Order: sequence, then structure tokens, then C-alpha cells
Amino acid sequence: MEGTTLNNQIAIVTGASSGIGQGIAFALGKAGAKVVVNYHSNAEGAQETVEKLKSFGTDAIAVKGDVSKEQDVITLFQKAIAMFDAVDIVVPNAGIQIDYKLHEMALEDWQKVIDINLTGQFLCAREAVKLFLKQGVRDHISKAAGKLIHISSVHDVIPWSGHVNYAASKGGIDMLMKSICQGYAVDKIRCNAISPGAIATKINENARDTEEERKEMLKLIPYGRIGQPKDIGEVAAWLASDHSDYINGETIYVDGGMTTYPGFKGNG
Ligand code: BGC
Repeated sequence: MEGTTLNNQIAIVTGASSGIGQGIAFALGKAGAKVVVNYHSNAEGAQETVEKLKSFGTDAIAVKGDVSKEQDVITLFQKAIAMFDAVDIVVPNAGIQIDYKLHEMALEDWQKVIDINLTGQFLCAREAVKLFLKQGVRDHISKAAGKLIHISSVHDVIPWSGHVNYAASKGGIDMLMKSICQGYAVDKIRCNAISPGAIATKINENARDTEEERKEMLKLIPYGRIGQPKDIGEVAAWLASDHSDYINGETIYVDGGMTTYPGFKGNG
């Protein structure tokens, strides 16, 4: 969505040095938002995101921080305010996979995924809601006091053996998001989620780097193509805008039909 729907709005996107986070940062920037680009270790990628956003005519800064660390998230919000004075859109996106079968999974690998994918989203949501409550509705900026867009996964509903840490973290995001909406919609805060399917990013590279694997992946996608970060970005930009003002507590599946369980086609 290109244009001015997010003009004068400020967004924080976590994990925006590559992949889906970068795609979201670009789409928000194209719609007019200024973007705080959080990254964990890929400083070069974050800088690339910032430069490209500036080339669109908007402003951006990169802020390093580990979303699973309370102080890092607090500092991220402080830096955003120091730079841009307000925050209107928060997109907790940073996520990882560490894949093992349950009976071979170390506690450490369970914990790390939960810490980043779920606790990280809690920490960002908490700081966002504190700030949105303090700011209230900023007149002429948006109808809402703030927009939280949690980036989840189709694996918040599709069970994923071999990835129980990841699936559990994404299932958790669903109830985190809905509970926030239930509690704070009255304060004009909108809290929604996007659940991407198979998007071509680093996280699933090794599940689609041979022709055979690509074909297997495509069997899971009725629409017949693997998604791109832009597919998620454009939905995020719309969900952040007043065009979707009455959507609250909702998850939008952006998955080319993956959650229709195509394995059941013609069955029975
Ligand atoms: C995972 C990807 C996977 C996709 C569809 C995503 O949440 O991170 O590895 O390709 O879901 O299964």
C-alpha cells in the first residue's frame, strides 16, 4: 500500500534487518511512516533497511537490541521517543526457530525460542501499551491511540511436530494478542496479529533449497507460490492504517491458503 495513509506516524518494527520484518518496515515507510528498525546482530542489514527507507523520503533509525531482554526493549522504546517524540505502531516481529523432535529437544532450545518469540512479544506489547495509554489518541494522526501488530505464524493453528517450541510460542501469541485487545480496546488501542505461511526468508531456506523440497513446500500452498516479505508488509501497512480501524483482536492469515489444510483436498 503506497501513499500517505501513515503520514506523521512512527513505527517500531523488531527484527527488521531482514526477511518479514524488513518487508514490513518497507511497506510502513512507503505508506509514510517513520520507522525504528530494531535488529539483534545484523547491523549491515539494519543499515540497508534504514537507507532504503530514507530513499522513500521518510526517516528511520536502526536500534540494536535483544527482544528477550527487558532492558533492551525498554531502551528501544526510549530511543524511539528520543528520536521521534511518539510511537503509533508497534510490530513485534523478531522470531527464531530451533528445530528438534520433542524427545530430542534440550530445555535450552525450548527456552530460547519461547524467550524470543513469546516473551519478546510480551515485552514489546507491554512497553507499547504503556506508551499508548500515556499518549492517548493523537488528533489528526490516527483514530486509535496505538496499533500493535503481532507477527505470529500459521503454526498458531497448524500443529508442527518437530517444532513444538516454535508452535507453542506462536499459539501463545494468539492469546496474548486477544487478551490485550480485550483489556485495552476501551483505551482505543488496536491489537491484532498477522500469521504468515511459508514466506521466502532465511528461516525456511533449508526447507526449500532443493527443487524436491520446493515442490514439497508448494504442495502445502494451494495458491501455488511461496510468499514474499512484501505480501506480509502490505497487510501490515493496511492493518496499521485507519482503513482497518474496526478490526481489533483479529488474526489475519497471509498464507496462500495453507490453513485450508490442502492435504484434505479430495479426501473422503
Ligand atoms: C515458519 C517457516 C515455515 C512456515 C510454514 C513459518 O512460521 O517459520 O519455517 O515455512 O511457517 O510452515
